[in-house]
Amino acid sequence: MEQDKAYARLLELREKLDFYSYQYYTLDKPTITDYDYDMLYRELETIEGAHPEWVTADSPTQRVGHKISGGFNKYTHDRPMLSLGDVFNDNELREFDRRVRSDLGEQVPQYVVELKIDGLAINLIYENGMFVRGVTRGDGVVGEDVTNNVRTIKTIPLKIDSHSPHIEIRGEVYMPVRAFDALNIQRSEDELEPFANPRNAAAGSLRQLDPQITAQRNLSFFAYAIGGTVGMTIHSQEELLEDLKKLRFHVNKEYRVFDSIEDVITFIHSWDERRDELPYATDGMVIKVNSFAQQELLGNTVKIPRWAIAYKFPPERAKTKVEGISVTVGRTGVLTPAADLTPVRLAGTTVKRATLHNEDYIKEKDIRIGDTVIIQKAGEIIPEVVGPVVKERTGQENVFVMPTHCPGCGHEVVRPDGEAATRCVNPECPAILSQKVAHFVSRNAMNIDGLGDAITAQLLQQGLIHRVSDIYDLKKEDLISLEGFADKSADNLLKAVEDSKKVGLARVLFALGIRFVGAKAARILAEHFGSVEALAAASTEELTDIDEIGPRIAESVHTWIRTDEARKLVAALEAAGVDMTAQKRQTKGSAFRGEIVVLTGKLETMTRKEAEEAVVAGGGKCTGSVTGKTTLVVAGADPGSKYEKARSLGTPIISEEEFIAWIQRDKTFPNE
Ligand code: IVH
Repeated sequence: MEQDKAYARLLELREKLDFYSYQYYTLDKPTITDYDYDMLYRELETIEGAHPEWVTADSPTQRVGHKISGGFNKYTHDRPMLSLGDVFNDNELREFDRRVRSDLGEQVPQYVVELKIDGLAINLIYENGMFVRGVTRGDGVVGEDVTNNVRTIKTIPLKIDSHSPHIEIRGEVYMPVRAFDALNIQRSEDELEPFANPRNAAAGSLRQLDPQITAQRNLSFFAYAIGGTVGMTIHSQEELLEDLKKLRFHVNKEYRVFDSIEDVITFIHSWDERRDELPYATDGMVIKVNSFAQQELLGNTVKIPRWAIAYKFPPERAKTKVEGISVTVGRTGVLTPAADLTPVRLAGTTVKRATLHNEDYIKEKDIRIGDTVIIQKAGEIIPEVVGPVVKERTGQENVFVMPTHCPGCGHEVVRPDGEAATRCVNPECPAILSQKVAHFVSRNAMNIDGLGDAITAQLLQQGLIHRVSDIYDLKKEDLISLEGFADKSADNLLKAVEDSKKVGLARVLFALGIRFVGAKAARILAEHFGSVEALAAASTEELTDIDEIGPRIAESVHTWIRTDEARKLVAALEAAGVDMTAQKRQTKGSAFRGEIVVLTGKLETMTRKEAEEAVVAGGGKCTGSVTGKTTLVVAGADPGSKYEKARSLGTPIISEEEFIAWIQRDKTFPNE
């Protein structure tokens, strides 16, 4: 009897969780708090924990599975996944329309116009309503089976209301722009190459061997096609999209139906102008003949349908002039050339500089100083120089020559065979040292305010700093003699230096600037080892055994920490009294468990960063804007529009004082 009850509850919980998740992710209209959702989820986990025999693949708890070893299995699509023909302007589109009309004879077409989402096509197979397989498009005939990763995408239902023995739903897996930006910021902190565009990011994320990683990438999905319609009577693309919605798929809401190609063109132009307002990337629009009967009449070629076409938006580009090429030295000694441009507007920002990466890049593109160049934002990130407008050359342009000596110290530079990077290898290079200092004192590192570039330059010039640890030997007399330094600013800086001794191991490890060790890796290492000594004693195997520490980070840490430079630096920091310990990972506090918190207004007793850290330490999450998902708003002095929004939504609002009381809860009842 008890068992029956538990089983009934389990079914009810699955149903509820699926529905809430659908409201949250697909409709973007949550109706319960994340906390309540988490509680139901946990209840389901508890029942399933007691009855593992009841766990089925469509349970909401089964979205994240285990790592697979080796590559992905190949899978041959039942029906090939076609690609699309491209057009690049209005006339080519009119030409498409003429061909369609002529092939249809007496019949008149209607067109469905959809946004072309910049992601990757995927085929979802459902058998008797259960999601059984997710396959990438691959070459259109054979794709890769990425089922376990697809399961982690919350907008993909694991179960649908269909009795068809086999149905294939096709659409686009994509990474929303916000997730893409956040991922790239994280990657650059971790010194990993950023993804060039959301499509690459989506593809890279879907091809992870570990679904845990895919799950963190916030991928989403839009359904737009069906592979065969066995047992279904659908007559048009429009009907299909509406039916897909009924099956609880996420369907892009911007599609429209038109009778004339001129109206299609007007609609396309309206999107070309507004496309950067969308929360996902689009590279064009897809025009499809609406009626399935007409689609069949028009037919397919081997690769592409004759009833649909993609209109590709031009990438946003601008023309400007290379006023000069300057070379900067990074903290690892790499020399990076960048184009100094005549400022120009591009995709919503003013661009004055564009990276030129390295010597070979400039040579390949033949970019000269004084050239008129075309720049573009590919996938809306850092602008790149597409190339020179050769016909606008006057003969006054100068070919760039990579310096043979470091612009920071004059020491000869090296470019090892087979490498694109040119480096300064002078261990005492002031340019490298000042970059190291800048990194060391930065906010996410030791957070020492008041040591800007100009001050650092003077300290280096006066020989007061030879390595970053010398910051701790600075005396007031040293400082007040500097230009632009008053008594008060010297005191402030010395206090900031003193305070930085207590920031803890995670930040110290990040501050040291070990290659590939970003803020996140530093925190993981600090929490795992608890001290520098323990870290220094670890073998590369021990390091790679840690979740999220890959071989590249492990190798880098292991090598660096054994160098002479590292030993001296660590000893000097220790001697200066810098705390090099961390609390080993403890279970998180629970004061903010399940809360999605937004901070607004000025806090008196702590910085934003500290407040955010307190929320995270208490098991909560901080976000930037108030939405229906926000569960708590902390209002400091002079709160702005976020406060108003929270009030209008009825979100709970607490004062700074109450916030501190929440934080204290964990300290008072650590085992709660
Ligand atoms: S329809 C036979 N609709 O564009 C129909 N494709 O260049 C094939 N895409 O592989 C696709 N948004 O990855 C269609 N609304 C949309 C789309 C779309 C993006 C992608 C898809 C396809 C590629 C073709």
